[in-house]
Amino acid sequence: MKNKLTIALPKGRLGDQTIEVLKRIGLGDGIDDTSRKLIFTDQNQEFAYMLVKPSDVITYVERGVADLGIIGKDSLMEDQADVYELIDLGFGKCRFAVAGKTSIAIQKDEVLKIATKYPNVTKAYFEKKNQPIDIIKLNGSVELAPLVGLSDVIVDIVETGSTLKANGLEILEVMHDISARLIANRVSYRFKYEKITRIKNALWEVIS
Ligand code: PRP
Repeated sequence: MKNKLTIALPKGRLGDQTIEVLKRIGLGDGIDDTSRKLIFTDQNQEFAYMLVKPSDVITYVERGVADLGIIGKDSLMEDQADVYELIDLGFGKCRFAVAGKTSIAIQKDEVLKIATKYPNVTKAYFEKKNQPIDIIKLNGSVELAPLVGLSDVIVDIVETGSTLKANGLEILEVMHDISARLIANRVSYRFKYEKITRIKNALWEVIS
């Protein structure tokens, strides 16, 4: 179908809630997230869904392969992508935070070594505070870095706080509130405006 709408969905942390909210507005019936398949189509061929890594949702939407996407604000802030952010979906709530050992005292005039998966967010935040920093980019399990002396602190998302707690770390500063967002490709938003608006409004209704 020419007017098919493709939606990129994040696997992992946000995945279950994303599929649940889509099902509440009557979409996503064809999705089987237990299978190894990566693309699904609704029975009437009107919608397609792609299951991808969270950070790749933005890439698929920005490049127009997907018309819509659901993604955490953390990824949006880090990637600064050229997409429309349509609504705050209200789920997937967590926070960006600076965390470290209880004993750490941040000295304004010393270079702070920060391990993070989010170098851009980290750079922007500490630039505003005029704090000199050295960013150590990691791809996961960042909580390990201050424990083994790789960094002084970390910048990461904190949801329940249990990962910090299990590693003897605590929040030193809360930076931003995070939640899931509906995003749209800029061209799709113009050419598929009615269909996208219908989905946006339906989602808005079930979450409010
Ligand atoms: C995220 C984040 C923290 C953890 C926070 O990691 O980077 O490590 O979850 O959640 P909590 O506050 O509920 O403990 P993720 O599970 O995505 O895996 P990763 O560490 O491999 O990136």
